[in-house]
Amino acid sequence: MPKQTFAAVILAAGKGTRMKSALPKVMHPLAGQPMLSYVVAAVTKLKPERTIVVIGREMDDVAAVVLPNATAIQDPPRGTGDAVLAARASLKGFMGDVLVVFGDTPFLTSATMRKMIAARRKQARGKAPAVVVLGMRPDDPGAYGRLVTAGDGSLEAIVEYRDASPAQRRIGLVNSGVMAIDGRYLFKLLDRVGTDNAQGECYLTDIIGIARAEGLGCAVVEGANEELLGINSRAQLAEAEGIVQGRLRAAAMAGGVTMLDPASVSLSFDTRLGRDVVIEPNVFFGPRVRVADNVTIKGFSHIEETTIDSGATIGPYARLRPGAAIGAGAHIGNFVEVKKSEIEPGAKVNHLTYIGDARVGRAANIGAGTITCNYDGFTKSHTDIGAGAFIGSNSSLVAPVKVGEGAVVGAGSVITHDVPADALGVTRAPQRDVAGWAARNRKAKQRAKAGNGSIKATKSKASTSKKRARQVSRPGAPTTSRGTS
Ligand code: UD1
Ligand code: CA
Repeated sequence: MPKQTFAAVILAAGKGTRMKSALPKVMHPLAGQPMLSYVVAAVTKLKPERTIVVIGREMDDVAAVVLPNATAIQDPPRGTGDAVLAARASLKGFMGDVLVVFGDTPFLTSATMRKMIAARRKQARGKAPAVVVLGMRPDDPGAYGRLVTAGDGSLEAIVEYRDASPAQRRIGLVNSGVMAIDGRYLFKLLDRVGTDNAQGECYLTDIIGIARAEGLGCAVVEGANEELLGINSRAQLAEAEGIVQGRLRAAAMAGGVTMLDPASVSLSFDTRLGRDVVIEPNVFFGPRVRVADNVTIKGFSHIEETTIDSGATIGPYARLRPGAAIGAGAHIGNFVEVKKSEIEPGAKVNHLTYIGDARVGRAANIGAGTITCNYDGFTKSHTDIGAGAFIGSNSSLVAPVKVGEGAVVGAGSVITHDVPADALGVTRAPQRDVAGWAARNRKAKQRAKAGNGSIKATKSKASTSKKRARQVSRPGAPTTSRGTS
């Protein structure tokens, strides 16, 4: 790129009415990251001399997301031209090129923006265009602004869809929203933009017609449709999510990941997957997940803010919540939830278990239905399970509590104090066998049932027979309960 400088203005103050959301449009996530962050990242790569993000009032969350870039506030939002005017003070004294991009166009690449700036500086017949607009030709030009061009391909005007005549609406070349503008003219042109249009707004797009009337040149650079998708509705958000997911999956597979049904796997922008990771269908990755080599993640698992070391097996139906760290070769099985816990190498937590705020030592075995009772309604407490410990099925470990190395907890125990290393901790009530109870119970039930049958045979109305059945079965009940008392 030539040595001349440029500034970037990213517009993100719009209300995003069509999203019908309490969240500012540009904060809606794609693969777990606000759509605006994609735009900021692409712009930042070009190292502009200044970057100003135009946001609305009470959009502190947006300002936080774009840090360390500067923000300018547009209040109220009165159109894209008005938004650029909000950046005027921040651009004071800047005479280089100004690149305007929209925060709702997340696939725009640095390469395309670089092309735009180059086109703005390129002289044709001794003159460089004052404004370069990035155009595209989508299959369905929908509600995008139409680019009206002259015979030589130069740009004459941009007409917003709502203001366009039927003939103009038939134009297939549309405005993507990206513009490179000669900074010497930008605000002079914007000051002359009115609000006489279908939306009563100050349109940035109007500077083209004004520039042309002034004898300034305007040009179009065409870009790829997929790169320039603007997100205005939830349907477009879903379409964009599909594109991002497609790219993330392709990158994962190119890096050595097997996906049995890629379309059913959701990744996050920052998901890191090692080689020979196998992902079965219907797995969801939230943000901050790192998976080492040779890990198998079985179907229907939901994973966020978790690290999984090499050779571990996860799922099916596992839920790994923030702070889960699964050691090498560990097994996390079906209907197991792990939160803020370290599962050390080789440990097995195979079925129906909740492990929260805990350490499960190396090669420990956690039986089905084990629960770490980590929360008393006020504070969270820690459970420490030593290496090689064995927790019998259906046990509750009431934290804070420690089970020592190599200790065994008897199935069905409620452990409320520490179990020493190599000890057996068991809290079950002793078992009692009542001789013959089952046989007596069976006979009583069968007698009662036979009694029902004879009543049914004599009474025709179902409702009456049901009532009788209850009456007949009742005498059997006390017999049964006597049997167990
Ligand atoms: C805009 C263009 C249209 C183009 C389309 C491409 C105008 C007038 N229209 O229409 O020609 O085809 O983008 O996607 O420019 N914004 C503000 N303040 C405002 C209004 C908008 O900051 O007062 C921001 C929004 O947050 C958004 C961007 O500008 O990031 C575009 O605004 P939006 O209302 O989505 O414009 P479109 O109707 O899509
Ligand atoms: Ca838009």
